[in-house]
Amino acid sequence: MLPFKIGRNDPCWCGSGKKYKLCHMGMDEKLRELKRMGEIVPKRKMIKTPEQIDGIRKAGVLNTAILDMVGEHIHAGMSTEEINTLVHEYTIAHGGIPAPLNYEGFPKSVCTSINDVICHGIPSPDEILKEGDIINVDVTTILDGYYADASRMFCIGEVSPEAKKLVEDTKKAVDMALPYLKPWGHLGDIGAVISNFAYSEGYSVVEEIGGHGVGIQFHEDPYVCHIGEFDTGMVLVPGMVFTIEPMINAGGEDFYQDEENGWTIYTMDGSLSAQWEYTVAITEDGYEILTH
Ligand code: MF3
Ligand code: CO
Ligand code: CO
Repeated sequence: MLPFKIGRNDPCWCGSGKKYKLCHMGMDEKLRELKRMGEIVPKRKMIKTPEQIDGIRKAGVLNTAILDMVGEHIHAGMSTEEINTLVHEYTIAHGGIPAPLNYEGFPKSVCTSINDVICHGIPSPDEILKEGDIINVDVTTILDGYYADASRMFCIGEVSPEAKKLVEDTKKAVDMALPYLKPWGHLGDIGAVISNFAYSEGYSVVEEIGGHGVGIQFHEDPYVCHIGEFDTGMVLVPGMVFTIEPMINAGGEDFYQDEENGWTIYTMDGSLSAQWEYTVAITEDGYEILTH
């Protein structure tokens, strides 16, 4: 079949129902020009319609409420299994589905990653939160078929000043990247801001596990690396939806995977690791946080 070329007055490929010339035509022309100049440009499937973004926004509202609820209940002496139960039941009660459950064989409804666990910790009745722990709770919710993904750190009781600073700095790193989220910016700006800041504080940044497109599926393109350089990587355009979720280690960047469960990622040197995750959308004039 010949490649299909959309006429100016045909319906836009995005499904908005608007004429192409009144919808994505201008953007497509600009992207074609940027591509000619050697830029990496997003594929059409990375660009969501307003309707899809609305669906992800609604999933995000529930996802944020779940994390708020976890924050109200988390305490020393509880097991990570109890966090799993809270997340699972709250999600179901509000019409959602916990995306982690059975995702590529993941056995639980949430990831709980304590201290030197970088990510993908599996809740367990044998794992009890204690004073001084830092824990990442990573919640992903499906609502009406749309996915939203976010995680937060929680400090259990009094934690060491170093742990507290790592937790706060990791959130600060994500917030520092937000002003770079705008049309015609670059994906590499995110990694540049985050890694420059993390390195200046003496931390390391995990390179091989990162953010991702999200919304129609759990993990979509593009890959969002938290180490980068300004003005490099994919061009950002309105309608892109992805996560920013840096994993920042107090020590070295090396890690290993739990051989028994095949999921949990630990720092090689046993140092603390923190992570915060937001799902964001690129808008006409900047960004929107869809869940945090
Ligand atoms: N929520 C994680 C992320 O931010 C992915 C977890 S995959 C799971 O991408 F299977 F462990 F849930
Ligand atoms: Co994610
Ligand atoms: Co997540």
